[in-house]
Formats: sequence, C-alpha cells, structure tokens
Amino acid sequence: MCGIVGYIGKRQAAPILMAGLHRLEYRGYDSAGIAVGNKGTLKVAKCKGRVRELDELKPQRFKGMMGIAHTRWATNGEPSDRNAHPHCDSAGRFAVVHNGIIENAAALKEQLTARGVTFSSDTDTEVFAHLIAMMDDGSPLENVVSAALRLVVGTYGLAVIDAARPDVLVVARNGSPIVLGIGDKEMLFGSDSAAFVRHATSMVHLDDGEIAVVRADGYETRKLDGTSTVKTPSALVWKDEAYEKGAFDHYMRKEIGDQPEAVRRTLGGRLDARFQTTHLGGIELAARDLLDVRRIKLLGCGAAYIAGATASHLIEQLARLPTQAEPASEFRYRNPVIEMDTLYIAVSQSGETFDTLAAVQEIKRRGGRIIGIVNVVGSTIARECGHGIYLHAGPEIAVVSTKTFTCSVVALALLAIHLGRLRDLSNANGARLIKGLEALPDHIAAILKREDEIAQLAECFQKAEHAFYIGRAAGYAIAMEGALKLKEVSYLHAEAYPASELKHGPLALVTSETPTVIVLPRDDLYRKNVSTIEEIKARGGPVIAITHPGEAHVAFDRSFEVPMLEPELDPLLLNIPLQLLAYHVALQRGCDIDQPRNLAKSVTVE
Ligand code: G6P
Repeated sequence: MCGIVGYIGKRQAAPILMAGLHRLEYRGYDSAGIAVGNKGTLKVAKCKGRVRELDELKPQRFKGMMGIAHTRWATNGEPSDRNAHPHCDSAGRFAVVHNGIIENAAALKEQLTARGVTFSSDTDTEVFAHLIAMMDDGSPLENVVSAALRLVVGTYGLAVIDAARPDVLVVARNGSPIVLGIGDKEMLFGSDSAAFVRHATSMVHLDDGEIAVVRADGYETRKLDGTSTVKTPSALVWKDEAYEKGAFDHYMRKEIGDQPEAVRRTLGGRLDARFQTTHLGGIELAARDLLDVRRIKLLGCGAAYIAGATASHLIEQLARLPTQAEPASEFRYRNPVIEMDTLYIAVSQSGETFDTLAAVQEIKRRGGRIIGIVNVVGSTIARECGHGIYLHAGPEIAVVSTKTFTCSVVALALLAIHLGRLRDLSNANGARLIKGLEALPDHIAAILKREDEIAQLAECFQKAEHAFYIGRAAGYAIAMEGALKLKEVSYLHAEAYPASELKHGPLALVTSETPTVIVLPRDDLYRKNVSTIEEIKARGGPVIAITHPGEAHVAFDRSFEVPMLEPELDPLLLNIPLQLLAYHVALQRGCDIDQPRNLAKSVTVE
C-alpha cells in the first residue's frame, strides 16, 4: 500500500527520493508524487500512474536538499493527479504525505471551508495540510504538527515539510509504519526500510503516538504531548542487493527461485539432531509453558492465513494439539473467546498487515498468549508480539507471496516438531522429520529445474475462464494457496474446494473448459481422490494432477510429479509447481505479474 520516503542532508533530495519511490513500488499504488524544499519555496510534482511517469513529468531542475515523496493507493478519492500526494496548504508552503485514514476528515473539512479554505483534492490528507497552515504560530514545526495531530482521529504515518523551515522535517506515526534511516550526515525515512536501504547504516522504528523531528545531523523523538522518548537504532537487516531483481523478468519468479536458500535460512541453527528436536529461542516459552498449551490458533491474512491452514495439519499430527487457522480479518470481528491455555500465532510476511495487527492487539488486551511468525525484522507485528520466529527469507517484493509462504510453513513445522517432541513424538519421528527438513531445499531446487514442464501445463488454461483447485486435508490448504496465486496474478477465476465437497455442489460447474487442478499426494486419501477425479472426468472436465511418482490409477489430462519426502512435509513440495503454474499462466496472459491490479503488498489499512 501507500509508500513514504523522505530525505534531508547535503545532497540533492530528488534523485534519492525517486530511487526510494522505485523501491516502494512493490507495495502497490496508483499515483505518485514528490515535494522538495529549496530557498524558501516548495516544488511539487505528482501524477496518476507509475513512478516512471512521475520521473518524466518532474522538471529537470528540481533542486533542494530536503523533501518527501509518496506512492498512493487510493482510499479516499479516486486515483488521479489531483488526489496524488503530496498535498499542500493554499499558500503552497507546507507539504504533507500520508498513509492511513483520517476518520474525522469530513468534519475538519467543514470547519476549514467555513474559514475560507478551498480544497483542491478529494483526499483526507489535504485537510491536514490546511490544518497545519492554520495552526502555525511560528513555534517549532514539531509543535505545530503535534497540535494539529491532536485534532485528528484516525490512522497515519505522515511526513510534513515547510518551505520556511528548510532544516527540519517532521514525521509521525499512529497505526501506519514509519522507519527512520540514519546515514552519514544525512537522515532519511520511509514507510519501510526498502525506501532508504542504500543510504542508511542503521534504522529506528517509530511507535504509535510518536513524532520525530528529523534534521540532517540527527533526530529526536517524542510523544504528541511533548514528552521525549528514547530509541535505540538497530542495524539494517537486508542490504541493497537483496532488493535487486537480478537476471529475472519478475520479482515473483526470482522469489520462487530464492526458495531453496530462503528455506535454508529459516532452518539455520534451529535443527537439533542430537535431541531430534528444534531450537526456537525467539519464542521465549519454556518447555513447561509449552506443555500447558492445550490448543493452537493461527491467524493471518491472504497467503499468511493459508500458510497457517497448511501448518495446522502438521501441528495437529505432530503435537496432537487441536489447531485451527482463521483469517485474522474475521477473527477480531466476532468477539472471539480468548483462552489462556491457547497459544495464538500471528503469521505475517510484512509484519504490518492492519487486520493481523488488530487481532494481535485484541488478543493481548484480553490477556492471551501470542507469538509471531514474521519476515520483516522489527516490524510492527513482530514488536507487538514480542516473541516469535523470524523467517529470514529476505525481502519479498512481488505483491504475491511465494517464498514467505513456504518459509512460514517451514517455521511452523519447526514449532510443530518442537511441541511434538515435548509430547508424544518419538525420537525416530523427530529424526525423520529433521532429515526431511534438511533435504527440503534440494528437493525444491530439483522441482524448479523442471520449470519447462510446468510452463507446458499452463497451456491447459488458454481457453479457461474458471478453474477448480481441489485437495484433501493439507492438500486442500495447498489447493487454496494454488488458487489464490492463480487469481492474484492471472486474474482467472480459481476456486479452491475440499475434494470431498466437490460433489456437494460445484461439480455442477465442471465442463470441458473448466480445468481442475488436484493436489494428489500418495497418502491414505489417494484412493478417495481418485474417485473424485473419476467424477470430474465423467463430466468431461480436464484434470491436472500435482502428484507423486507411481502407478496412476486414473487417467489425468496432464500431471506433474514431485518427489516424495515425508508425508507431513510433502504439502510444501506439492505447492512449488502451483506457484510456477500461476506464474506461467499469468505470463501467457500478459498480466502485470509483480503488481497485480487492485492488490497491495502491505495492507496497512482496514
Ligand atoms: C495482502 C497481499 C497478500 C498477502 C496478505 C498478507 O493481501 O496482497 O499477498 O498474503 O496481504 O500479508 P502479510 O504481510 O501479513 O503476510
């Protein structure tokens, strides 16, 4: 979603800000803009469309050593030039960029209009620019911004510059992330560290209710009431190169290819062959605490929810604890019962998804015990949970989640083994699963080498407008993930169904132009799945099986075999061809793979 970047220092701000915007493109946006301050004036350029269009539109001479820039994902007001950020006051002195939603914008707008202010956009953000201008009494900018923020109800990550105060920038956070980047006699900030990673050596995450005064030589943080806060900078975890696409055409394809290495990093230092268990220091729960756990609840959104659904089978099998996954977005709205002997687990790549964060906060408020499975170190959900397992998957730039889905399931498999070994999981089974996890990266790499075969499967979708993805138990969760990937990147309607449920309704929709992808491991349910395939074939529906080697008991139209690993870990391998399948269908259909329409990477609003 919306991205923010800011700079103040001794260099020209515009090129640094534009490079920052390019880095933030992955979050999803529909318009972009930039403002720089120079010799008492502000220069602003903004437009609907891509950052490269802003680059072309922006005058060559766009000088100034401080500035802010933004990529917008429309919430209030359609995507358009006039609604793009930054927004300025009537005199063009203050410029504001903002992520989040000002809930009382309509009331504030009415008051400002009554005092003669004319608005030039439909956004809530513009209200804030006029508010600051009206409240400016010559006191330091941070005081004016704090006073204005006290009148605002809603969420924000925002940044303000004033042409008349060229040595300072003010940023504030309430519900939408802001990270400061500390460079060499220069300061930067962004909605995530990707925006400034090239120039900063360390970073500081603002907390909700904090405001920061940023100068070229440093920063101060405080609360809205003026009390100072103390922050400890941390090192940047991912270097600039980690954000490069390399030789790949798309980040999605690069990240699918990253998986063997990413999984190795998730496993790194966490396997204990001596006691056939796993080390998970970050969860900070002693064996005794974990033995008190009677139930597990996994919460996440999108692919993170499905990672939880996939792992729920694993946890239940290995630890024999009732485990359930639920979309975090639903959980918090149904007045859930929070149980003290349940371990709640929030799963999130970005660590910023608003719905997941809100669920975490609600669980904490009611005294529940929660840990996070998060990729971005220091992100809001990671900090809010306090304990958990970092994925260490490296940055994921494509809007759709691939490597972090796999790594989330791997992290949860580590937890499942840990919980299982505290209970009834035998030494032999612990050892077997550890060996299986160690072998996982090489098996993934072997599947990736057969990409051409999967590209051929994609041809089955040439005439299709609808597809079914089916499976049983963990295979159904993988079907959900496969269908989600296809929907997100190829815009084909794909519906996931438990294979057992097909005959209870959706079979009515099966035709010769509706392919069904079946996740078909050779497990106890293989024969049941074969019966389902026969039902589909009897209705003329093409069947594509993602399966294991062995004699086929039914004729598929197409199939792809993945190696058998361990039954509990097989879902991870069965998913890899589905990622590549979605990628190749999207490629053949000419879709914008890394930034699918209407989607955003880090959904920081409700
Ligand atoms: C958005 C993205 C999905 C992602 C979900 C959860 O909806 O489009 O691809 O799976 O958010 O993101 P998270 O960062 O919490 O894993």
